[in-house]
Amino acid sequence: MKVSGNTVLITGGATGIGLALAEKLAGLGNEVIICGRRAARLEEARIKLPHLHTRRCDISKENEREELFKWIESNFKNFNVLVNNAGIQRRIDLRKGREDLSGNEDEIEINLRSQIHLSALFIPLLSKRKEAAIINVSSGLGFVPMSSFPVYSATKAAIHSFTISLRHQLRSTPIKVFEVVPPAVHDTELKGRPAQKTEYSISAWEMAGAIVEGLENDRYEISAGAAKKWIEASRRELDEAFSSINRLE
Ligand SMILES: NC(=O)c1ccc[n+]([C@@H]2O[C@H](COP(=O)([O-])OP(=O)(O)OC[C@H]3O[C@@H](n4cnc5c(N)ncnc54)[C@H](OP(=O)(O)O)[C@@H]3O)[C@@H](O)[C@H]2O)c1
Repeated sequence: MKVSGNTVLITGGATGIGLALAEKLAGLGNEVIICGRRAARLEEARIKLPHLHTRRCDISKENEREELFKWIESNFKNFNVLVNNAGIQRRIDLRKGREDLSGNEDEIEINLRSQIHLSALFIPLLSKRKEAAIINVSSGLGFVPMSSFPVYSATKAAIHSFTISLRHQLRSTPIKVFEVVPPAVHDTELKGRPAQKTEYSISAWEMAGAIVEGLENDRYEISAGAAKKWIEASRRELDEAFSSINRLE
């Protein structure tokens, strides 16, 4: 797909991979809209990148997703790219029964249900465009689960599956469907991720570069670093990777 001249919504675009992608895409001549829950973070992003459009939205809430859609539809006549990037990661120890499952943030709601619902909301609008795209951010952990993040890993595996079906269903529409499969990315706010660089991690800026390069070349599964091997690995290689990353836990 072309990587300039688009109007793009990046959910969770005020930090991490989303913000790096917003910066890359804005620099390439795209109109970029970001959304997230924290007003202060959105404002910091807008100060850094003054052409950004920002919108406060909790995508885990159905009514807020619908309001976001209506706002985009009425304010951005050329809107053509949805990036389902927002996500959270929680450490959950099921040996404690339900204890870790409670809390006010739900990974299934944020990482999975909202991506499905936002895709469905935007498809009729995107279908009217000459060129359009839905870009879903999954994770290497959707291919090789990390047992301390069991629900997170499961939501990302589900996003992988959902994206394959969506791509197939939309194959005769103008909407291209991409999946982004990041490895560990260090300079983001995702809980449980390394804040500093490790030998296994790449930067959000490097990940954003890989995304732009993948979009430009119509590579429908875009990855980088360790996750690049995992998206093509055999079952035996996936089992070996599972043993290796879970040995650290
Ligand atoms: N970092 C990694 O190692 C890594 C690896 C593989 C995949 N990923 C995926 O990459 C994506 C981006 O994550 P990141 O690493 O860049 O972490 P991040 O810096 O924490 O970015 C996630 C963004 O999502 C937003 N968000 C979370 N819940 C939201 C909600 N309910 N409504 C609206 N926005 C919400 C957050 O902003 P607010 O809190 O202000 O809402 C935040 O800006 C995620 O899907 C993540 O699973 C990350």
